[in-house]
Amino acid sequence: MSRRRIAILISGRGSNMVSLIEAARAPDFPGEIFLVLSNRPDAGGLDLAREAGLPALAIDHKAYSTRESFEQALDATLTEHGIEFICLAGFMRVLTNWFVERWAGRMLNIHPSLLPLFRGTQTHRRALDEGVLVHGCTVHFVVPELDAGPIVAQAVVPVVPGDTEESLAARILVQEHKLYPQALRMVCDGSARLENGRVAFSQSWDAGGALHSPG
Ligand code: GAR
Repeated sequence: MSRRRIAILISGRGSNMVSLIEAARAPDFPGEIFLVLSNRPDAGGLDLAREAGLPALAIDHKAYSTRESFEQALDATLTEHGIEFICLAGFMRVLTNWFVERWAGRMLNIHPSLLPLFRGTQTHRRALDEGVLVHGCTVHFVVPELDAGPIVAQAVVPVVPGDTEESLAARILVQEHKLYPQALRMVCDGSARLENGRVAFSQSWDAGGALHSPG
């Protein structure tokens, strides 16, 4: 199977982007990162992408008068590079229905919570405020409703006494860096597919035991 041509969209430091770039270097990875785009010219991740030898471009949303014109520029650049698949990795711009529908089934996002809990921002603060004992991250297909798309993969971490937003974010980020490459691999090799608004899986699972926290 030919390797899928992937673009990563970022807005910030790009640690998930780095984990995807590193994973995709494996010769058997079913996708290849061809492009990194940021809506913020000052995103730290752009330098990291260039250091990794990738084209890394900023398309500054502030230079466009409407969301649509910004997204048309984004879409034109993706098309020019022959991109087949998009990974949002800390991309902090809400996308319009036009863009999302254009890339339906071909765009993933990572979100720092166990969706459908804690959609939106400040997920770790809200998890601590609610007193949940497990928290985590989710990779999902992007749909027009924010953080609501069909789920491809999730990782769970315990919330422990004394946790702060920072300690929880750090514990989850370790898992994000493992989860996103795994999920992208499954989507690129077709073992996780979007079908009728749900994710269809064609690999066998070892269901294992329950996760307990505490314990
Ligand atoms: C990650 O924790 C990611 O889950 C989150 O932003 C961070 C980006 O970090 N994404 C969202 O909140 C999307 N709504 P990174 O730039 O180091 O990958």
